[in-house]
Amino acid sequence: MRLGFVGTGSIAAAMVEGLGGGAVLSPRGAEVAAALAARFPGVTVADSNQAVVDQCEMVVLSIRPQVAEEVVRALRFRESQKVLSLIAATQIATIRDWIGLDLPVIRAIPLPFVAERRCVTPIFPSDPDVAALFDRLGQTLECRTPDEFDLLAVGSALMGSYFGILDVAQSWLMQQGLPEAAARDYMSMLFANLGQVAEASDKSFATLREEHSTRGGLNEQVFRIFGEEGGPEALRKGLDTVLKRVRGP
Ligand SMILES: NC(=O)c1ccc[n+]([C@@H]2O[C@H](COP(=O)([O-])OP(=O)(O)OC[C@H]3O[C@@H](n4cnc5c(N)ncnc54)[C@H](OP(=O)(O)O)[C@@H]3O)[C@@H](O)[C@H]2O)c1
Repeated sequence: MRLGFVGTGSIAAAMVEGLGGGAVLSPRGAEVAAALAARFPGVTVADSNQAVVDQCEMVVLSIRPQVAEEVVRALRFRESQKVLSLIAATQIATIRDWIGLDLPVIRAIPLPFVAERRCVTPIFPSDPDVAALFDRLGQTLECRTPDEFDLLAVGSALMGSYFGILDVAQSWLMQQGLPEAAARDYMSMLFANLGQVAEASDKSFATLREEHSTRGGLNEQVFRIFGEEGGPEALRKGLDTVLKRVRGP
């Protein structure tokens, strides 16, 4: 299936990189599109969004939610096409309404790790062509319900907080006198190794936390104060509010 991207930004670029080429790109995001066309075989930049749709069997909607309705309503699709929507917080019925045809619309949450083919990508509903695509970019996770898909979208919204925690820790270490590079290298090493432990282990996160916290020790102390100061509650509140937004109006 010829793949076309409407919206050539970060996530489209990461997917094309992971696929190693073979895509038609929309002209907006001109710099990214030109760089991808120069770097990968079989990548072309179309003259317009409509030209992308005209040249492809699977159309990937990789534009931001704020412009999505205007962009999609202006396009004319064909009965034989499949639409893969990456647009956050926008339900299938809404996208089908914008398209104006009863086409298969599949949603997915690819993350930047598709570039290294290391992403687990949730999709809904199941579709063999879309599953084959994301299996090439790591692994497809076929959700059983729209609710499961939305919950994984909420989980994916923690990427910023991950780096936010690293940033707070690094800044604090520097304020106490540690050089910037030492603070950065040490914290990124720590979190990278912990990520590997979490991925390789079949133990619960609560068990891993206990195993990485000596009783009465320093790790236990930080997490206790995090709890006493409302850290977990703030995190749950963030997830609650994102879930409301993800489910849409
Ligand atoms: N990044 C992620 O990790 C991630 C993960 C999952 C889902 N998503 C979703 O994927 C979508 C794209 O995200 P992104 O991070 O790739 O955003 P992005 O980097 O801002 O890319 C969006 C692209 O859309 C282009 N665009 C704007 N108006 C357009 C129009 N009228 N016609 C065609 N293209 C237009 C922009 O071009 P200009 O630069 O010229 O404005 C830009 O290249 C969003 O809906 C987001 O929620 C992103």
